[in-house]
Amino acid sequence: MNQQSASAGLDRSPYPVGSFTFVLHGASGDLAKRKIIPALAHLAKSGYFAEDSRVILAQREKLSPQDALAGVDTFLAQAGDEAGRASLPALKPFLMTLQMNLGTEDAGRDLRATLAGLPEPVVHYAALPSSRFVNLIDCLDEVRDPKRLRLVLEKPLGFNGAESADIEAAVAAKLDESQVYRIDHYLGKQAVQNLLALRLGNRIFEPLLTREHVHSVQITVAEDLGVEERAGFYEHAGALRDMVQSHILQLLAIVAMEPPVSLEADSLRDEKLKVLRSLKVPNVQAGPELVVGQYGPGFVRGQPVPAYRDEKGVSPRSMTDTYVSFRTEVQTWRWAGVPFLLRTGKRMPRRFAEIVIQFRDVPKPLFEPAGGQWMGNQLIIQLQPEDKLELKLLAKSPGERERLRPVSLDLDFFNTWRIPVRDAYERLITDILRGRLSLFLRRDEVGTQWAFVDRILTDIRKHGIEPVPYASGTYGPSAATAMALRSGALWAEDGV
Ligand code: BG6
Repeated sequence: MNQQSASAGLDRSPYPVGSFTFVLHGASGDLAKRKIIPALAHLAKSGYFAEDSRVILAQREKLSPQDALAGVDTFLAQAGDEAGRASLPALKPFLMTLQMNLGTEDAGRDLRATLAGLPEPVVHYAALPSSRFVNLIDCLDEVRDPKRLRLVLEKPLGFNGAESADIEAAVAAKLDESQVYRIDHYLGKQAVQNLLALRLGNRIFEPLLTREHVHSVQITVAEDLGVEERAGFYEHAGALRDMVQSHILQLLAIVAMEPPVSLEADSLRDEKLKVLRSLKVPNVQAGPELVVGQYGPGFVRGQPVPAYRDEKGVSPRSMTDTYVSFRTEVQTWRWAGVPFLLRTGKRMPRRFAEIVIQFRDVPKPLFEPAGGQWMGNQLIIQLQPEDKLELKLLAKSPGERERLRPVSLDLDFFNTWRIPVRDAYERLITDILRGRLSLFLRRDEVGTQWAFVDRILTDIRKHGIEPVPYASGTYGPSAATAMALRSGALWAEDGV
């Protein structure tokens, strides 16, 4: 089948969601303007919303819907998001605004008055700093029927396990777990769902994903951006809390989990949880199995960029990590002993996210080695910038000699389907509106992720480990290369 006829058979029409009310708390914040409002607008434009549905932008300032939309439009214009701007007018017929001061006595009453007569389910989306979550939960007492609402919480839930547990206790006191949607937007990415399909919809790789066949697994989420306007948050967070605590650990859980009994939320979450519970805490001293870094000045895409410590809002003596890489193991029968090398950093040379599964060499090489260092095959699952799959095979190179060369089988999902990939938030919002929990985190997953990150942070503090400087526009401290080599592995950019 050629590419055109393959995509012609796909159903492109929207499958509308029923009526709802969506209250966006923190509507004037960066995340709301950059991601959530454009995603809602695009869904409205694509015909997903029933006519009587309502989107309420809740914020401290008193604003008309018109002015609120104009504010988002200006923000998107500055961000160069023309597609986002083009969708905004479609949101207008659904839009209401609410001036609300969370934490004040009036907040719950104002919310109840606004919601009177509007359709259910009511979704409360907390696009707020996690320090405000409990304030929001407190005013949910006031709303019509707390058992019929859905609460959406953005990561990070707190800045450590104890804070997260406090928030969770407040949530559990009011709501059932089935009403809570904890977002990690990586699970909304099409590429992550493709990863599930690759593993669970095909026979050919799954039997090979074991300690018998896999040499090592590496996961990279690299960003070329720096801290941008978020120093206030990032100075307290750093790469471990911001990226590892959820995005990286969720990717790892999906790669390493056992096949679930179904794709229902709890089946998937049970399997991910087992992986998260079986992670080995990296040894920060011997080895060491962890490298933290902080970007210095340098060049990204040919442009000079400042050091982290010279960014607006950052302390000149900041010890915040903007890079982290570490080695862990999934201590299960399937994976015991296989190194999992994970890393993330800001101000790297390019934005990319990928999972590389490095297979072992053949047991007895019969051919001459392929020029490079690796003889084994690699399966590369690229999540960003493109949603792609690459399988590196070894092929006989032309000529008389029995010599092998790596060649690639590439699958580019965009060119296969020829349908623009939906933004992660669009997918997640439709799932919330349809009441589907599979792509959201359960309380025990978040708790286990925090326990792992807290252990690492405690060890870092205990042993006085400080971030190593690295030049912006590089792949991080060279100590990370040495760390990978100790596991007999090379980071992707160092390989053949
Ligand atoms: C967010 C982090 O969760 O993910 C940001 O707080 C990071 O620091 C972002 O930049 C990366 O998301 P994406 O989708 O651009 O890879």
